[in-house]
Amino acid sequence: MKVIAVASQKGGSGKTTLAGHLAVQAEMAGGGPVALVDTDPQGSLSEWWNEREAETPLFARTTVERLEADIGRMKKMGINLLFVDTPPAITSTIANVIGLSDLLIIPTRPSPHDLRAVGATVELAEGLNTPLIFVVNGATPRARITSEAAIALSQHGTLAPAIIHQRVDFASSMIDGRTTMELNPGSRSSDEITKLWAYIDERLSRMETNHTMPTSHHLSASPASNGAAYN
Ligand SMILES: Nc1ncnc2c1ncn2[C@@H]1O[C@H](COP(=O)(O)OP(=O)(O)OP(=O)(O)O)[C@@H](O)[C@H]1O
Ligand SMILES: [Mg+2]
Repeated sequence: MKVIAVASQKGGSGKTTLAGHLAVQAEMAGGGPVALVDTDPQGSLSEWWNEREAETPLFARTTVERLEADIGRMKKMGINLLFVDTPPAITSTIANVIGLSDLLIIPTRPSPHDLRAVGATVELAEGLNTPLIFVVNGATPRARITSEAAIALSQHGTLAPAIIHQRVDFASSMIDGRTTMELNPGSRSSDEITKLWAYIDERLSRMETNHTMPTSHHLSASPASNGAAYN
C-alpha cells in the first residue's frame, strides 16, 4: 500500500479537490482498492464522501493519533492506495501525516501568496524525507503567471507536468459527491486529472523499483510478490 498525503499550509489551494479527484481517478484506472482519510477538522472531504453514491473509493474514519495504526490495518485489509487530506495551517497534523506518507502532493495556486507559503511545507517534507510533487492548481489558461509559478516551483522540487486549470466543473461536480470524471467524462478537466494521476502513478512505480532493486532476487522468490491482495 502506498500512502499519499495532499498537503500545503496555504488554505484553498485545492487539497480536498485533488484528494477526491485523484482517489476516484486512481480507482478508475485500476489502482484500487483506494481509500481516503480526512484529517482536516473542517471535514470537507468527509462531507463530499457522505454525498457520494458510489461505494468506491472507501472512506476510513480515523484521527491523526490513530492514523499510524489504522494505516497498518488498511494494509492488512488489502487497500492498495491511501489518500490523506490535511488541514491548512495546522503544522503538527501536517507533519504527522507527511511522516507516515510515501509521497506528498502539494497543490499550489499560481499566486504570489501560494508560492511564498510553499517553503514551509517543503521544509517539513525534506525534514521527514518524504518525496514531494508540486501540482499547479487553479491556473488560468495562457496566463504568464502560470509559467512563472512553474519555474519557481521547479526550483524547489519536482513539478507535475500536468497542470490543473481553474474550471467550474472541478467545484460543481463535488456538490453531490462526484468528480468531474463522473459528471463530465471526456471533458478537459477530467483529461487533466487523468494525466495528473498517470504521472503520479508512474512516479510511485518508479519509487518502488528503486526501493526494491537491491533485494529484487529475494522478492521474486517470495510468494508475497505475486500481487496478492493482502500484500
Ligand atoms: N481547479 C479548480 N477549478 C475550479 N475551482 C477549484 C479548483 N480547485 C479548487 N477549486 C475550488 O476552490 C475552493 C478551494 O478548494 P479546496 O477546498 O479543494 O482547497 P483546500 O486546499 O482543500 O482548502 P482548505 O485549505 O480550506 O482545506 C473550493 O471551492 C473548490 O471547489
Ligand atoms: Mg480542504
